[in-house]
Amino acid sequence: MTGLNGKQILLGITGGIAAYKAVELVRLLKKAGAGVDVAMTDAALRFVGKTTFEVLSENPVITDLWEDSHGSVAHIDAAARCDAAVIAPATANCIAKLAQGMADDALTTTFLAVTAPIMICPSMNTHMYENIRVQRNLDLLEKDGVYILDPDAGDLACKTVGPGRLPDPWFIADRIIRMLCPKDFAGRQVLVSAGPTLEPIDPVRYVSNHSSGKMGYAIAKAAEMRGAAVTLVTGPVCLDPPVGVDTICVQTCQEMADAMLSKMDGADIIIQVAAVADFRPDRQETLKIKKISDQDRMTLTMVQNPDILQQMGEKKRQDQFLVGFAAETHDLAANAVKKIQKKNLDMIAANLVGVRDSGFKADTNQVTVFMKDGSQTDIPLMDKKAVAHILLDTILTRLKRTS
Ligand code: PMT
Repeated sequence: MTGLNGKQILLGITGGIAAYKAVELVRLLKKAGAGVDVAMTDAALRFVGKTTFEVLSENPVITDLWEDSHGSVAHIDAAARCDAAVIAPATANCIAKLAQGMADDALTTTFLAVTAPIMICPSMNTHMYENIRVQRNLDLLEKDGVYILDPDAGDLACKTVGPGRLPDPWFIADRIIRMLCPKDFAGRQVLVSAGPTLEPIDPVRYVSNHSSGKMGYAIAKAAEMRGAAVTLVTGPVCLDPPVGVDTICVQTCQEMADAMLSKMDGADIIIQVAAVADFRPDRQETLKIKKISDQDRMTLTMVQNPDILQQMGEKKRQDQFLVGFAAETHDLAANAVKKIQKKNLDMIAANLVGVRDSGFKADTNQVTVFMKDGSQTDIPLMDKKAVAHILLDTILTRLKRTS
C-alpha cells in the first residue's frame, strides 16, 4: 500500500489552537487518494469555520446530530464507511469523554459508532497533557486498542514549553497510512542500505555516483509501514530520514561496510540497495590539491573498495535472507545471475541504469527479480514506492515457503 487510494478517513476536530493544522491534514489526505468526512465540535468551530473543511473534503461537515439529513443518519453513515478514524487535535475533554464512552455531541457520538482503527492526536498545554487524569484516560484508550500519536514537544501557543504540540500534518498523514498497512513484517528485523558512497580525494573533492537514495529509502519505509523493525544505512542523500526507521548516516564504502556488518547479526532480511563505489582514491590528501597552471592533466590512482555484499554473503546464516541489487547498462540477466552466485545471495533485483525513468534518480524503476533457484520475474515500470512493496511481497512469499 503506497497511499490512501480508495480509503475513507473520518477526521474529528476538537477545539484547540492546533485546529488550523487540520486544514492541511485534509488536503494531504485527499492528495493521498482518500475520501474524507469531517466531524467538528462547537469549540473547534470557534477556531476554524466549517466551510473550509466542506470545500476541502468535498463533503458536508458533521457538527450537529439534529440537522436535517434527508432520511439518512449522517454521523452513523460516516462512522460506518470509514477505513480509519482520527481526531486531530484531540483536547483533554474529548479524550476524557472517549475514554468513558460518552456521546454528548456530534463528534463523540460519531466516534462511538466507529468500528475501524482509531488514532487520537492529543494537543494541549503541557501541564494538562502531563496531568495524571489525562494520562490515565490515554492509557485506557490505548488498552482499548486506540492508537495514540504522541504530541511533539516545543513552544506552545499558551507560552509554555514542553510536550503538547500537534505533530505536523504530513507526519499524521504518514502514520494514518501506516495504521492501515497490513503488518505482515511484524517481528522481522530488516537492514537496508541506500544512496551512494562518497570517496574523498581531498577535503573538497570526491568520487561518487548518481544514486539519490530513493529506491533504498522506499524499501526501508515500506518495511517500517508493514511492521518491521528497520535499520537504514545511508550514504549522503537529500532525503529526509524515514519516520520510525533507525537511520545511520555514512559517507565512504568502508564506513558503510562497518555499519552493515555490525548490524547484520541482528537482521533477518538484508537488502543492499546502495550504489557502493567500487574504487576509491588510493590516498586522501589532507590539504586541497592545488591547480598547477602549466599542468593540464592529473593522474588519480584508485584502489578497489571492499565488496560489502560479498562479505555479507560469506557471513550469512541459514536463517538470513540476503538481497542485492544489480545496476547494469547491458546484459542485465547474465550479470545479475552471476552476482547471485558470486555473492551468495537469495535474490537480486536488477535494474537498467543510464536510461530515463529507471535506475538512478528517477521516481520510477523497472526491475527484474532473479532468485537463487533460477526463477525470474519482471516488474513493469512503476513508482519506486510500489516497486518496494512488490519486492517485500516477493521476499515474504519466499520466507513463508522455506519456514
Ligand atoms: O538511489 P536511486 O537514485 O533510487 O537509484 C537506485 C539504484 C539504481 C542505485 C539501485 O536500484 C541499484 O541498482 N543499486 C545497486 C547499485 C550497484 O552498486 O550495483 P552493482 O551491480 O555495482 O553492485 C551489485 C551489488 O553489490 C549491489 O547490491 C551493491 O550494493 C553491492 N556492492 C557493490 C560494490 C561494493 N563495493 N560493495 C557492494 O556491496
